[in-house]
Amino acid sequence: MSFEPQIPEWGLNSFNKYQDKLIEYHNWLKDTAMKTGLISKKTEQFIWDEFIIHSLYFAKLIKKYKNQKKREIIDIGTGAGIPGIPISIVNKTNVSLVDNKQKRIYELERLVKILNLNNARPTKIDADMILKEAKNSIIVMRCYVSTTNLLKSLEKKQLKENNLTIFVSSNSKSKDILSKMFHVKQEKFLINKNNFRYIDVITDM
Ligand SMILES: C[S@@+](CC[C@H](N)C(=O)[O-])C[C@H]1O[C@@H](n2cnc3c(N)ncnc32)[C@H](O)[C@@H]1O
Repeated sequence: MSFEPQIPEWGLNSFNKYQDKLIEYHNWLKDTAMKTGLISKKTEQFIWDEFIIHSLYFAKLIKKYKNQKKREIIDIGTGAGIPGIPISIVNKTNVSLVDNKQKRIYELERLVKILNLNNARPTKIDADMILKEAKNSIIVMRCYVSTTNLLKSLEKKQLKENNLTIFVSSNSKSKDILSKMFHVKQEKFLINKNNFRYIDVITDM
């Protein structure tokens, strides 16, 4: 089957103009990231749909929930830059790409130079530290932690006092008992013609 760099209807207007740069990133994922073990072996279509299109929905949500101009974006457990790199391609705000593995940070530093992304900052730091210290930020996480486990380590006042909104990729539609303490809204979207994915949006409201 041939590779089709499709963009679902929800993203056509906003993201079509970034397609060339997104394809450059796609090429890096299928060549460098796969060779260096940042991602496991995947088809070109899988990389596009699951990594790039999935990431673009985080970018769409950031636009929707960004209630003031100066909010940094932090991608925790970024790995090969997912979702942080596509976000930094389509959004001018600074994006910190956080991982605790130095090798990943080195590869990402090379990548941001190749793609000429001045707003993407690979940063080696532990997730727990960032979660404690982040202020005025939108935090995104894909395949790093479940909403349930994240909520166990968060305090509600932390979200309000530090002005944080958190987006977490999610597989399940089930409502968790802990989410009663937080406001968790589940966003459902298509990554291609047939497959839906979910992102949980956690706010203090
Ligand atoms: C399963 S990968 C997910 C990568 C990427 N977000 C994605 O969707 O493909 C999890 C990443 O989290 C990083 N990681 C694990 N523990 C961490 C920690 N305590 N602090 C920061 N990063 C961590 C790993 O090095 C790895 O790159």
